[in-house]
Amino acid sequence: MVDIMNQTYSIVPYPGKEVLVFNQPEHLLDFLIHTWRTLAEEAVADRGFFSAALSGGSTPVKFYRKLAHAESLPWDKTHIFMVDERFVPFDHRDSNYCMINETLLSNINIPSQNIHPVVTSDIRAEDSAAGYEKKIMSFFHITEGEVPVFDLILLGIGEDGHTASLFPESDVLKESLHLAVNTAPSGSHSHERITITLPAINNAGNILFIATGGGKAHIVREILTSRNSTLPAAFVSPLRGRLYFILDKEAASLLTGKE
Ligand code: 6PG
Repeated sequence: MVDIMNQTYSIVPYPGKEVLVFNQPEHLLDFLIHTWRTLAEEAVADRGFFSAALSGGSTPVKFYRKLAHAESLPWDKTHIFMVDERFVPFDHRDSNYCMINETLLSNINIPSQNIHPVVTSDIRAEDSAAGYEKKIMSFFHITEGEVPVFDLILLGIGEDGHTASLFPESDVLKESLHLAVNTAPSGSHSHERITITLPAINNAGNILFIATGGGKAHIVREILTSRNSTLPAAFVSPLRGRLYFILDKEAASLLTGKE
């Protein structure tokens, strides 16, 4: 067991990934807060700002609620982007922005110009994706063909292995130029989506997958152990940054580290 800040987690050895397993939910949340604080303070010291792209879904809700009450974080120098968005109005119950605003943004003292949502009203999905890409390029002062370096990208994992709004067998997985695209997922996933793409994800300084619950155990094992998985989450492989899998013991229950 590794002991840090009174947290206890075990490390499961997978090359190129930091797979941390937490027995206590509170320890997992405290580790995420500690990691957020460390990355934010380092980024602000080095570059004057901290850029983080957040995922929706249910897994990060408790973390966002706890983060909203963390002391003395540099919110005035923190910029929040969306990893992806369901193409619904901001007040729709399925909106990722709605959830992130309710759990985090409306509870912290962050300048409105530091919040970068995806526009989902009175616009076509393809124009929304193009506008979001332009917003990212403008913020990071990059031109076409260049890729931003988000300080942190927080990702969940669907039980089908999707992450962001990159779904299995989707053409979006082959996107190599655009930083954000619109995509219409098949199957049970409703709503058209806007998502950042693998080039934008894999250029980040720190990528954190969070997965909790036994329902994710099979897909987590597949993503971490299969050599040539075609699952979208398995395509997340940072070019230069660090890749973390932050798991509770249920989501890690099928891992041995000897696969
Ligand atoms: C979304 C998310 C998506 C999510 C996974 C896991 O818009 O739904 O960005 O990628 O992270 O579907 O969702 P849960 O956390 O609810 O299991």
